[in-house]
Amino acid sequence: MKISSAVALTAVVTLGAATNVTIVRPNEPFVPNNKLPKSHAESDGGAIVDLFTNLGRPVNWRLISKTHLEGDTGEPEGMARVGDDRFFISAGRWTVPTKTYPHPINGTDRSAGAGFAHMLVYDGQGRLIANGTLTPPGDIQYHGGGIDYDGRYIWITLAQYRPNSTATIVKIDPLTLDQTPLFRTHDHNGGIVHDTITDELVTLNWGGRNATTWSIRDYPHGFTPLPGFTPPQSSVPDRSFYVDYQDCKFLGHHMLPADIGTATGTNIRRPIMLCGGVATIQYGSSSFNLGGLALVDTQTMLSLWEVPIELLSDLGTPMTQNPIDAAVVDGKLRIYAVPDQHNSTLYVYEAN
Ligand SMILES: *[C@@H]1O[C@H](CO)[C@@H](O)[C@H](O)[C@H]1NC(C)=O
Ligand SMILES: *[C@@H]1O[C@H](CO)[C@@H](O)[C@H](O)[C@H]1NC(C)=O
Ligand SMILES: *[C@@H]1O[C@H](CO)[C@@H](O)[C@H](O)[C@H]1NC(C)=O
Ligand SMILES: *[C@@H]1O[C@H](CO)[C@@H](O)[C@H](O)[C@H]1NC(C)=O
Ligand SMILES: *[C@@H]1O[C@H](CO)[C@@H](O)[C@H](O)[C@H]1NC(C)=O
Ligand SMILES: *[C@@H]1O[C@H](CO)[C@@H](O)[C@H](O)[C@H]1NC(C)=O
Repeated sequence: MKISSAVALTAVVTLGAATNVTIVRPNEPFVPNNKLPKSHAESDGGAIVDLFTNLGRPVNWRLISKTHLEGDTGEPEGMARVGDDRFFISAGRWTVPTKTYPHPINGTDRSAGAGFAHMLVYDGQGRLIANGTLTPPGDIQYHGGGIDYDGRYIWITLAQYRPNSTATIVKIDPLTLDQTPLFRTHDHNGGIVHDTITDELVTLNWGGRNATTWSIRDYPHGFTPLPGFTPPQSSVPDRSFYVDYQDCKFLGHHMLPADIGTATGTNIRRPIMLCGGVATIQYGSSSFNLGGLALVDTQTMLSLWEVPIELLSDLGTPMTQNPIDAAVVDGKLRIYAVPDQHNSTLYVYEAN
């Protein structure tokens, strides 16, 4: 495929840069005992689906803990809970804001701006263990989006911070924070999940409006060498406009309890991800951000179960504004969220 993008030619895009890691707590490995825990798909994914489909409105969310995260987190974008005591958080540090153009130029609506994508490693007490810089100075693909841990790697998209632009799909080794770029897409990408059963990646573009799928089973066969662009295997629109998904977690292939025994549900195991996000709802001159969580079929983007999340942080940010993850603890569903920028708190709630 021809390297056609004007944006790609006008600014620096560095592919496969080494992560520059600042180790804050040298005696703490990035992952406890360097032992990688199982993914949701191989552990609690089915239980998350079962418990999530008991939720309705309103949900009685019980606050389990609030933990201040050390340091200036910038803008948290995605989170992966890697075992009980580690939280990997992708975070953006914006140094030059993007500026809206009076009319679209080269297919996009704003200037590139500047910044850095970080991967922050925290323990359960909110202590910073390491601060990895994923993008070098001047790289316009400085926006790291939602992330997903697959039992071996953490997946992230490093994209330009503007719609209809470009992104590189990258995997990060949680043991070292080393990064490997796989391929590039001619669109902005934010969220990503790895379906470990089909070995497909599903990425979401600006506002989570389109989902694109790539099979990496035969990688690199069928992929355009970097910095060329690879078209996706398939692309589907998100037909739900209830919230724009920001951060998603692959949960495995499961049957919904509500489908078991029904004609449509018989033998249907769907590839399911849990997604969180917000939508800005405008009423005349006033607006508010509505938060929500949903179970979504990764192949069709049909939402299978969705609940509004009415929780706000102490600073007034909707709980699902930025990263989310989930777990099942003592048979109950817990959600984890880091809504606030810069001065961030990890909130843990349990559905009762
Ligand atoms: C748009 O693309 C053209 C052709 O590559 C380039 O010369 C120009 O600088 C680009 N404009 C902006 C604002 O990026
Ligand atoms: C990570 O490092 C960057 C500088 O390289 C800094 O601006 C940022 O605040 C650090 N993040 C945290 C959480 O300390
Ligand atoms: C991005 O491209 C799509 C499809 O061409 C278009 O509908 C949309 O308005 C564009 N968005 C921006 C912000 O330029
Ligand atoms: C890491 O630091 C080196 C030396 O300062 C610099 O050349 C490189 O661009 C940096 N890379 C990243 C990803 O920050
Ligand atoms: C979604 O993808 C389709 C097909 O590639 C494209 O025509 C459409 O403009 C995209 N929509 C958005 C909002 O990105
Ligand atoms: C940080 O946020 C907490 C609430 O989450 C607030 O109590 C505290 O005052 C804030 N600290 C600063 C320095 O703004």
